[in-house]
Amino acid sequence: MTKTVYIKTYGCQMNVYDSARMADVLAPLGYAPAEDPEGADLVILNTCHIREKAAEKVYSELGRLRDLRESRARAGAPDMTIAVAGCVAQAEGDVMLRRAPQVDLVFGPQTYHRLPELLAKVRRARSGSRTAPGRGVLDIEFPMESKFDLLPETMTGQGPSAFLSIQEGCDKFCTFCVVPYTRGAEFSRPAGAVIAEAEGLAAAGAREITLLGQNVNAYRGDAPAGSRTWGLGRLIRRLAEIPGLDRLRYTTSHPRDMDDELLEAHGELDKLMPYLHLPVQSGSDGILAAMNRRHGADDYRRVVERLRRARPDIALSSDFIVGFPGETDRDFAETLRLVTDIGYAQAYSFKYSARPGTPAGALEAQIPEAVKAERLASLQSLLDAQQEGFNQSSVGQAMPVLLERPGRKAGQLLGRSPYMQAVHVAAPAHYRGRIVKVRIAAAGPKSLSGVLAEKPAVARRWASGAAAAEVAP
Ligand code: 5AD
Ligand code: SF4
Repeated sequence: MTKTVYIKTYGCQMNVYDSARMADVLAPLGYAPAEDPEGADLVILNTCHIREKAAEKVYSELGRLRDLRESRARAGAPDMTIAVAGCVAQAEGDVMLRRAPQVDLVFGPQTYHRLPELLAKVRRARSGSRTAPGRGVLDIEFPMESKFDLLPETMTGQGPSAFLSIQEGCDKFCTFCVVPYTRGAEFSRPAGAVIAEAEGLAAAGAREITLLGQNVNAYRGDAPAGSRTWGLGRLIRRLAEIPGLDRLRYTTSHPRDMDDELLEAHGELDKLMPYLHLPVQSGSDGILAAMNRRHGADDYRRVVERLRRARPDIALSSDFIVGFPGETDRDFAETLRLVTDIGYAQAYSFKYSARPGTPAGALEAQIPEAVKAERLASLQSLLDAQQEGFNQSSVGQAMPVLLERPGRKAGQLLGRSPYMQAVHVAAPAHYRGRIVKVRIAAAGPKSLSGVLAEKPAVARRWASGAAAAEVAP
C-alpha cells in the first residue's frame, strides 16, 4: 500500500541533500512524497542548530504537529509518525524526546540510512504502550559505517541543478559554531563514489552539480586508483569530463583551504562557475583570532586577489557574524572596510547567537541585542547596495542561464546566471533543464529578468558555425 511522507527541511543545502536521500531510502518501503503534513503517514522535520532561532522553529512546528495529530484522532483519521532529523536531533535528541513527547523518532545526520529499521522499532514501541512517555526511538550515533556506502544508488527528484554531498563534518572548531559537534569530524567520500554519483545525476538529467560539504574545500578523498588522495581541485577537474554536465559549483569553503590546485581549476575550467561563497565572518583581526578562524583579514584579501587573478569575473559571496563577544565599534568598522574593499555579489549576515557547548557561548563580553541589531542593519544596507549594484551591472548583457523551475508567473521559468543570480525568463515549460542565452532587461535587488536572446531555430542554423559557443544549446 502506498504511504506518504512529508519532509520539511530547515537550514543549509546539506540538509536539502539529506532530505532528498531520506526520500530515496523511504521509496522502496512504499512511501511517496506528500505536499503537506495534513494527510501524511510520516512527517520528518530535518532541522538546523546553527543559530538559536533556527532551533526554536522546530519546537513551534512540533506544537503544530501535536495539534494536527489530535485533530486527526478526533476525526477518526489514521495516525501519523512524527520524526525529527538533522542537527537539532543530533544536539539535543534525548532532551527533545522528553520535551516533546509527541515525537516518535529522533535520528541524526549520520544514521538516516537506518530509517527502515528505525521505523520498525517505532512500530514495535507503539504496539506496546500507546501513551507512555519516553516511548520515542533515538538514534544519534556517529556510526562506524558510512551512510554513503549504504544509501540507495539512485538519486531521485533533484532536477536540472542537483546537490551532491562529498564531504561532511568540520575539524576547524570556530569558537561560535556547533557544526563540529553536530556533524562530527571531517570525512571525505572516496573520489570514485563521487564520480559514480555525479554520472548518475547527469544521466538523470542534471546539467549542474553543486558539491557540498561543511568544509568542502578541505576535501581529501581516496583517489579512484592507487593510494594517494585527491583534493577538491583534482576532483572538479575529473567531474568536468562528465558529458552532459555543464556546470559545477561547490560550497561551503574555508579561506584557509583555497589551495593552488583549486585556484588553478577556477582559472582553467569553464564548467567551474565564476561564483564562490567564501565566508569571512569578520574583517577584524582581533575578532577573527577570537573566533579561531586561523587567518587574518589581509590573508582573506590575498586569497580573493589570487582568485580574481585566476578568474577575473568571479563573483563573491560570504557569511558575516556581527556582535561576536567583545566586538567593538572599531572591530565592526573593520568589517565594513573589508566589505567595501572586496565588493560582494551577495552575502549572508547574522547576529551572533550564543550556542550551547561552544567556547564563545561561555564568554562574558556578550554584546547587547540592540547593538547587534544596529550593526546588522548597517552591514546589510552596505551588502544590499553592493548586490543591487552587481545586478544592475548585468543589465544589457547576454548570459547563459540554466532554466531550473517554473517561475512565479505563468509562462515564466526561473533560472540561474553563472554568477548565481536568479533570472526570470519568459520561456515555454519544456525549456526547463536547458541552458539558454538570456538578454538581461531589468535588475531588482535580489533577481534579474530577461528575454531569450536567440530563438531555437536560429540556434540550430548557427550550431556548426563560428558562433556556436554563443548559441543556446
Ligand atoms: N551565530 C551566528 N551565526 C552563526 N553562524 C554559525 N554559527 C553562528 C552563530 N553561533 C553563521 C556563520 C556561518 C553560517 C553558516 O552561519 O556565518 O558561516
Ligand atoms: Fe563552523 Fe568554522 Fe567549521 Fe565553518 S569552518 S563549519 S564556521 S567550525
